[in-house]
Amino acid sequence: MQRADSRDSLWGIVREWRRQGHIIALVPTMGNLHAGHLALVKAARASADRVVTSIYVNPTQFGQGEDFGRYPRTLEQDLRKLDAEGCDLAFVPDEATMYPFEGDEAVRVRAAPALASVLEGEHRPGHFDGVVTVVARLFNLVGPDVAVFGEKDYQQLLVIRRLAEDMGYPLRILPVPTVRESGGLAMSSRNQYLGDEDRSAALQLNGVLREAVERLASGVGRERVERDAVARLESAGFKVDYVAVRRAENLAIPGGGESELRVLAAARCGNTRLIDNLSTK
Ligand code: PAJ
Repeated sequence: MQRADSRDSLWGIVREWRRQGHIIALVPTMGNLHAGHLALVKAARASADRVVTSIYVNPTQFGQGEDFGRYPRTLEQDLRKLDAEGCDLAFVPDEATMYPFEGDEAVRVRAAPALASVLEGEHRPGHFDGVVTVVARLFNLVGPDVAVFGEKDYQQLLVIRRLAEDMGYPLRILPVPTVRESGGLAMSSRNQYLGDEDRSAALQLNGVLREAVERLASGVGRERVERDAVARLESAGFKVDYVAVRRAENLAIPGGGESELRVLAAARCGNTRLIDNLSTK
C-alpha cells in the first residue's frame, strides 16, 4: 500500500491511475479503524480498480466540548489494517493540507438545512457543515468515481448524498450496511470509551430500535413508538437525545403510506454518546 501525506504526492499517484483508465473509490475516515470501516474498504474494492482511504480527524465537525482532543489516533495500526484489506493508497493529510486558509479566508460549505438541522444537527449545531466542508475537499483532492459511506451514520449519508447531487460531483455514493458487534452494538470508535457497566447498557440501544421497528410493523403509531423507546432507554440508564421515526429518503416526519422508514436514535451512556438506526424494510 502506498501512502500520501501531501496534495502533490496524492495527485501524482491518482493522476497516473486515471491515465491508466482505473476506476477509483474513496473511503473517507477519521482513523481508529475497526471492522465497520474495513467493510467500507471491502465494498470499495468490489466496485473500483483502486481504493484510496483517507485518515483525517476533521476539527471543523467537532463542537465546543466534544471529543476532538481525545479522539483516538492510532495511525500505525490503521495503516496495517488497510494494507491487509487491500487498500491501495492511504491519504493522511495534515491540517495545512486540508485547510490551507484559516478563519475568514477559508471557504466553508453549508449542508442542506432541511437534512442537516434536524436530529444530530439539533444536538450538534454546525456538525454537518464541518462534515460536508471536509468531504467536499476530499472529493476535490482525490476526484473519486465512487465514494463509500456507512449507514451507521445514516443522516451523514443523506447529507453527503445531497452534497454530491446538488454540487454536481461526478461520482456515485455507495452506502454500506452497519457492522455490529455480536450483541448488536454498532461498531464505533467511541465504544472503547465505554466502561463494563456502560457497555452492557449500550447493548440495549439496538434492542430498543429493533423493538420499535417491530411495533411499527404491527401498527403502533409513530409517536407512541418513539415515546416508549425513549422511556425504555431511560430506564436502561441512558440520557436520550432523540428517538425518531422518519422517512428514510429525507428524514421528514412520515405522513403515512411511506414504503421505508428509519428509526434513528442518539443517547448518552455514561460519558459516551452513541447513535444507531434501523430500517423498517
Ligand atoms: P468515521 O466515524 O471514521 O467513519 C468513517 C466511515 O465509516 C463513515 O462513512 C461511517 O458511517 C462508517 N462507519 C463507522 N462505523 C461503522 C459501522 N459500524 N458499520 C458501517 N460503517 C461504519 O464518519 C466520519 O468518520 C467522518 O464524519 C467523515 C465522513 C470521515 C468526515 O470527516
